[in-house]
Amino acid sequence: MSGFNFVNPVNFYFGQGKLAQAGTITAQYGKKALIIASDSAKPTGQLAALVDVLTQAGVTSVCFDRFMQNPLSTLVDEGATFAREQQCDVIVGIGGGSAMDMAKGIAFMACNSGGIWDYVFGQTPADSALPVVLIPTTAGTGSEANKTAVFTNPQTNDKKGLVNPLIYPKAAIIDPLLMLTLPRRVIAGPGADVLFHSLESFISKNAHPMSEMLSLQAVELIGKYLPQVYDDVTNIEAWEKVTFASSLAGMAIDCAGTTLPHALQHPMGGLLDVVHAEGIAAIYMAFMEFTWQSAPQKFAAIAKALGVNTLNMTEEEAARSSIDAVRSLLGYVNMLPSLSSLGVKEEHFDWFIGNATTTMRVVLANNPRVPDADEIRAIYQQSL
Ligand SMILES: [Fe+2]
Repeated sequence: MSGFNFVNPVNFYFGQGKLAQAGTITAQYGKKALIIASDSAKPTGQLAALVDVLTQAGVTSVCFDRFMQNPLSTLVDEGATFAREQQCDVIVGIGGGSAMDMAKGIAFMACNSGGIWDYVFGQTPADSALPVVLIPTTAGTGSEANKTAVFTNPQTNDKKGLVNPLIYPKAAIIDPLLMLTLPRRVIAGPGADVLFHSLESFISKNAHPMSEMLSLQAVELIGKYLPQVYDDVTNIEAWEKVTFASSLAGMAIDCAGTTLPHALQHPMGGLLDVVHAEGIAAIYMAFMEFTWQSAPQKFAAIAKALGVNTLNMTEEEAARSSIDAVRSLLGYVNMLPSLSSLGVKEEHFDWFIGNATTTMRVVLANNPRVPDADEIRAIYQQSL
């Protein structure tokens, strides 16, 4: 076994009803909170409940009430200005991946000058960031568990992650009770992303024994329990497993990164605002067909984790069977869209390929088989 490093400084609070502790947890880090909330946090009463527990713990709060899916970096700048004006000393994000990423970006830009893209591309060293507390209300991105936040540049349409240890959340509050009103589409999309994060981090060239353990456990849990919460949104025991899997996968990608599908999805999100998990799902089968033979042992382990009886199979048969297992899981939650159904057309391919091979070069390089431009085009074409 070759050596590796592992670090994850996030304080995790898992369990039913943990939202009630958000006030005392946040009070450890600041006295005035800026809240970043998904649109859904208001009608569900989650935002009001958060404000309530913050107040009870002596934390005053203001809400930055602008929110968007695939957040623009300009919105992050606005939020950071607001945080400074309001003299907030802690940021609390409640919502899905977009709200959590915005919270991280705002915490970062509140303490650093210039534009976020100077830091995304690593040219400028950063000093500090405000402390962040994250409360996921979907089970998918795992953003609460890592140091990445993804934004879109409105000038270039580049969609890319700020990756910086300064934006590790101080605390993550993972309360499965917050999932019980999710519409099916918001169970399926983020839930599929848990599968994508765990599978891709597992096969990544950067995987190590610790990340593989996290990834494989997440694959197993999401394979078993995602269909259960999809069938019955009130199944709290299944939600405990799904939310746990989401954070495990978030930790795993922190170590090992994602691979080809995430690299090819970012241009879709940047240019066409395609929903993250749907864009990835559309190319997943083509990605697996392209990749499995370059890491048969890994794909065989994925098949087993997804419940395939691989006992009497050769390694090659087992690896191949992972494709059907993933197709069946995605099909169960109605997550097998075509690229066309997401608004992608053949005329977009040139821009996608140029964008993926430049801004997502490092992520592409994580894949066990690294595609050239023609092979990327073929993957998009097969998925159209
Ligand atoms: Fe993802």
